[in-house]
Amino acid sequence: MAADPDFDALFAAASRLQPRAYAPYSRFKVGAALLADDGTVHAGCNVENAAYPAGTCAEAGAIAAMIAAGGTAIRAILVFGEGDELVTPCGACRQRIREFASPETPVAIAGPEGIRARFTLEQLLPASFGPANLPR
Ligand code: THU
Repeated sequence: MAADPDFDALFAAASRLQPRAYAPYSRFKVGAALLADDGTVHAGCNVENAAYPAGTCAEAGAIAAMIAAGGTAIRAILVFGEGDELVTPCGACRQRIREFASPETPVAIAGPEGIRARFTLEQLLPASFGPANLPR
């Protein structure tokens, strides 16, 4: 079995970026950090837009940073947000993570005090559609 990923490093990266989020409309700032297959950590934050649907989630930013840096797969991902509820990835971001992860990939949900819950991608997005579903 693969060694447990370094969630402390992901927590540090996501919590560092969360205050930089641009969220003037929802006032809900989110940070996300992922561990790539090559051992590098990439982070992102949500960037909202006056045309609301054009805003992007923290997870999308972290994935874009990984791809831009040459990473190809997500070994683990952590989402950091405030409030009483679990800040789980939205449906679209579950699919974005799916593109670069496996069913067993851990998705950790954190608040300011630390990790609150841990899921596998399969738990968040069962019976998902992915690259292998498309004909070659
Ligand atoms: N948001 C994220 O960035 N990631 C999540 O996992 C949940 C929601 C953002 C989108 C929007 O800018 C704000 O949080 C409120 O939904």
